[in-house]
Amino acid sequence: MTSVNLTITARPSEACDTDLAKDPWEFAALAGYGPGASSADPIPRGAVRPGGLPPEYQGVPDAELHARIQAAKTALGDRVVVLGHFYQRDEVVAHADFVGDSYQLAQAALTRPDAEAIVFCGVHFMAETADILSAPEQKVLLPNLAAGCSMADMADSDSVEDCWEQLEELFAGEAAGDGLAPVIPVTYMNSSAALKAFCGRHGGIVCTSSNAKTVLEWAFARGRRVLFFPDQHLGRNTAKAMGVPLEQMPMWNPRQPLGGNTPEALRESRVILWHGFCSVHKRFTVEQIDRARAEYPGVKVIVHPECPMPVVDAADASGSTDVIRKAVDAAAPGDVLAIGTEINLVNRLAAENPDKTIFCLDPVICPCSTMYRIHPGYLAWCLESLVAGEAPNRILVDARTASDARVALERMLQARPS
Ligand code: 13P
Ligand code: SF4
Repeated sequence: MTSVNLTITARPSEACDTDLAKDPWEFAALAGYGPGASSADPIPRGAVRPGGLPPEYQGVPDAELHARIQAAKTALGDRVVVLGHFYQRDEVVAHADFVGDSYQLAQAALTRPDAEAIVFCGVHFMAETADILSAPEQKVLLPNLAAGCSMADMADSDSVEDCWEQLEELFAGEAAGDGLAPVIPVTYMNSSAALKAFCGRHGGIVCTSSNAKTVLEWAFARGRRVLFFPDQHLGRNTAKAMGVPLEQMPMWNPRQPLGGNTPEALRESRVILWHGFCSVHKRFTVEQIDRARAEYPGVKVIVHPECPMPVVDAADASGSTDVIRKAVDAAAPGDVLAIGTEINLVNRLAAENPDKTIFCLDPVICPCSTMYRIHPGYLAWCLESLVAGEAPNRILVDARTASDARVALERMLQARPS
């Protein structure tokens, strides 16, 4: 894996989140997401809290951290596998054995049953998924426990259970002659293990941005409607592309009775969308696309399906982070591509494709602030702890939740395009 040094060095005025321009240790000390927020699991005993990283790992020059990480990985050999999401910083990606989108990383967790430890450089729900899919004795470590996902936090178990009870009551009298369930729950991978387990228990399934259409087809073959959470945009964009009219996609606001809908609207619905979104992807706008087209006639615009529907409609293509990467690789020398996704990935694609013009649609620097919490200092600490026989920040999903969640994840892994 080549290392490209593109650390974000934004001035506060250039960053969408001014906290991101803070010194890494000042930033790391800020409250973040993670256990207790994006999941109901307890904080692991002895876990290092944000900002509590041992001082010997703070303020260490990048080159020294790089060498220490490499040395620890060499000492551990096959005992450890490091997984890195595309949105990670380059200094972290440089050490990953697998780099991919959330679907590919879930699969990668299955490919190394021999490794004692999986160090997940991503966010909390991804590490939970790796724990659920990996062998019981394997330890999954999340280098910084504050690396969560604000979107995942927008759907909590209590609100989803409450929604489900209301829907069950509403659809109780429905004729069932077609053999279909009244509603099938579908959770985006960006959700807590508890919600994946909920789907497992209620005939539902998990999806990622790379297989959402296949998963919705799976669900429509089994149910009259889908309850899709937490990302309204992925749900809406995918269902619309499959021909579901917008009027049949009511939004569920968990703070209102019946989610703020009439019983008729819910009865007529095909996809009930949870009121969740990604704060990074909601920044992309049609105006940015118009500007890119005016400045670069012939530009190809590719966006992530977590972007709002008008943005996806105005783009030339949309897809998961891996689809975006492949589209850039497939472009011809001299092509211009405007990308609507997280800045670390866009910058890396630009550096790896110097013969193409690649830029982010959003002129303001906008990384995913929780992915960004995996500073190489945390990775060095995790790996050196493993060398010393410790396994810090272990993400351990309880057995009952893991077993139910595995049902929904395996349905996803087995679902095939029709
Ligand atoms: P991918 O599944 O495309 O990797 O997306 C994950 C994510 O969190 C995007 O915001
Ligand atoms: Fe969550 Fe958005 Fe970050 Fe993806 S980019 S991990 S959806 S906050």
